[in-house]
Amino acid sequence: MWKLAERYERYIKDKKDFSLHMEKVYRLTNHNDTVVEIGGQFGIGSSTAFAMARPAHLICIDILKQDKFESFLTACEYEGINVEYWIMDSLETTVPPCDILFIDSYHTYEQLKQELSLHGNKSRKYLIFHDTATYCCGNTGQDAKSPGLLAAINEFKAVNSQWCEVYKTEECNGLIILLNSNSLSLEKEGK
Ligand SMILES: C[S@@+](CC[C@H](N)C(=O)[O-])C[C@H]1O[C@@H](n2cnc3c(N)ncnc32)[C@H](O)[C@@H]1O
Repeated sequence: MWKLAERYERYIKDKKDFSLHMEKVYRLTNHNDTVVEIGGQFGIGSSTAFAMARPAHLICIDILKQDKFESFLTACEYEGINVEYWIMDSLETTVPPCDILFIDSYHTYEQLKQELSLHGNKSRKYLIFHDTATYCCGNTGQDAKSPGLLAAINEFKAVNSQWCEVYKTEECNGLIILLNSNSLSLEKEGK
């Protein structure tokens, strides 16, 4: 059985499409965080990076059950990581309040707009989006329709002004991180 650290190092070494984001996501995640990941797929990329940070609770959601995800669950169980695997459509799921919401599902404007409207404000601290360079800068989504992901993110920010962009890269298909500025005042008040 692969240990989580081995899976993590191996994924980075193999230079896959999330490799350059693994450490970013790992460092952002705290031990007392609840993390919700939409689009876990095989459990080899983002799921492993979050699990490596040993959050209090990790919920991995995917519309498709993947057999390969089982080895990730086994590694988590062996290392005492509290992880749940939900086979659900993100548009028909109730996401619980969380500290980090990571979205990497069907990369279209309509999908992300609905995911943000349903779940965006469930996150107390961070919203993280993958594939933002692939499906926003060309201004088309995975459905080849315009606009792409960036428009959905910008529209969400425009009506939820507490969310500010704190990180953006176009490497490895792009990653955008928004910070909930309300979390800073809660931290100051010691809550
Ligand atoms: C790009 S892959 C995710 C890759 C993964 N984050 C990683 O780092 O390896 C996108 C995943 O989103 C899932 N997905 C697509 N539409 C979805 C939906 N409506 N609800 C939940 N998951 C969805 C797909 O089944 C697929 O596994």
